[in-house]
Formats: sequence, C-alpha cells, structure tokens
Amino acid sequence: MKPTKSVYVARLLTESVTRELGSHAGLAFDIGQEAPPARAELLERVADKDAAIVTLTERIDEEFFAAAGPGLKVVANVAVGFDNIDLAAAARHGVTITNTPGVLDGATADHTFALILALGRRIVEADRFIREGNQWVWGPRMFVGLDISAGATLGIIGLGRIGLAVARRARAFDMRVIATDATRPLGSTVEGVEIVSQEELLAASDVVTLHVPLLPSTRHLINRETLAAMKPGAYLVNCARGGIVDEQALIEAIDSGHLRGAAIDTFEGEPQVNPELIARPQVVLTPHTASAGEATRDRMCRLAVDNVLAVLAGREPLTPVQTA
Ligand code: GLV
Ligand code: GLV
Repeated sequence: MKPTKSVYVARLLTESVTRELGSHAGLAFDIGQEAPPARAELLERVADKDAAIVTLTERIDEEFFAAAGPGLKVVANVAVGFDNIDLAAAARHGVTITNTPGVLDGATADHTFALILALGRRIVEADRFIREGNQWVWGPRMFVGLDISAGATLGIIGLGRIGLAVARRARAFDMRVIATDATRPLGSTVEGVEIVSQEELLAASDVVTLHVPLLPSTRHLINRETLAAMKPGAYLVNCARGGIVDEQALIEAIDSGHLRGAAIDTFEGEPQVNPELIARPQVVLTPHTASAGEATRDRMCRLAVDNVLAVLAGREPLTPVQTA
C-alpha cells in the first residue's frame, strides 16, 4: 500500500468539493474552518504536510515554507491572483505554486458589469432612498445617471481573460470599449476593443475598470495624477486588488466632484474597509465577492484540489504559476 500523503486545507472549501475529498485514497486532508486560521495555527498545521490548499487570506512566505518543512511539494491558491504568495521563497524551497485562472472569468465579469450598471443607474442610492421612507413622485430629473447604452465609453485596464469577458458584456450593451494591455500592441483591435495608451483611456472613458494583477508595477496605478487625468464625471470600478488604487486619492477625487462615483470590491486594507469610503453615498461596496458564483466557486476549489492531486502523483500541475 502506498503511504498516506497529507494535505492541509486552510479554509472550508465548497460543500461538494469538500465531500469529494474523502474519495481520494492515500490522501489525508486536514481541513480548517470557514474563517481564516490565525497565523500561529496556519504555521502549526502546515508542518510536515505534503501539500497545502490556501486562499488569498493566507500569507504564504518564507516563514510559511520553513514551518512546512522539506516535504511540502505544492501550494494551491484558490484564486487567480497570487499576490499573497512570495514566489521567490517558493522557488527557494522548491515548492510548486498553482492558481485558478480561467474558471472565474465569467462570474468576475458579471459582477464587474453589475457594478457598472449599479453605478451608472444609481441602483444602490435609489434603493437606500426608498428604504429611508422618502416621499417621492416620478419626475424627469429624478435619479438620472449615466446612459450606459447610449454611447458611453468603457475603459478596461488589463485586457486579459477577465478584461475580455467584461468587454464582451459591454459590447452587448452597445458601449464603446477601449483598453490598455501590456501584451498587446497599441492601435490593435481585439474583438472590437481598441488598444489605446493609458493617457487616452483615462481621458476618454466614462467608466474605467481595473483587471490587472497587483504587482510592484501596478501598485497605486490609480493615484492622484491618473485620477486627475480621468474624464470629469467618470466612474472607477475595482474588482482586481485593492492595492492598485490609492484609496485616499480616490476619496479626494470623489469629494472634489471630479469623479461621479466608484464601485469597489477589493480594498487596500482588506478586510478593513476605509470608513471614508463607507461614508460616501456615491461609492458602491461589495466584500471581495466578484467570483462568488456557486458553480464558479466549485470550479475554483476543484481546480485547486486537482492541482494538488497532479503534483502529488508526480504529474505536471494543471495551472502552475511561474515562480522563477
Ligand atoms: C480573487 O480575488 C481571485 O484572485 O481569484
Ligand atoms: C417612465 O416610466 C415612462 O413611462 O417614461
């Protein structure tokens, strides 16, 4: 009989994927709770494991790999983003890192588009207005907002898998769609989306939406200068990572009236939300739920498990992250 290999699962996965874990002979799963483990618990439970399944709430760094010991072969992140993982440390320890690209593009784009519609048509403000018990009667000036399908321009920063899925939705709403993308030539067109310079995108877009990973080069990509370069009255949507936006600068741009509003799913100090954002009615907030579709979360969890199974069986992982 093959010796049992052990896998630490830092958070509860979806119900159906958790149920399936019992069917893998020769593997023992040490499963955490719904809430993120405390740091000390994370380090203790990963000790001597062969693999770990983690989420973006776990910081995977030198200390983590040292605590795990030399048996750790693979860390599977249940997320497409992997800014919670120190890739250089993973490479030093010879640990394979995997993420979950591809399976969450539709859900994340749906959520992004829901936020674009909510901002433009002032859905959350209007809902609050009714719930507050305000007296109202139909009027031509009441809650007017952005005419999304009457020629509004959407600017997508990062036309990767998710950015492209957002573009398809926007095109179906008759929006003009432009994008910036580090890997595509300026002036080229991808599925009706024109690749433009960042300067042109910021100046022309009624809504700017972010779909780049958080990297040293994208930290505070949206800052005082880039906000000032945006079209007056425009909106910002962030379903990527909080650190891409300088939140203080965003709040100032909203207060000055330069931006009409923003929708934020990912926060600089996550899970803390800046009270200044909460205080502003022009800001729509969701708690990092852009990929939270039922089937999507199953696919993310299953892909993480399949990556672990592949590596522990000596096969190539399905979706590795380049570590060195
Ligand atoms: C979620 O934020 C992810 O990166 O999948
Ligand atoms: C609005 O409800 C309209 O009928 O125009």
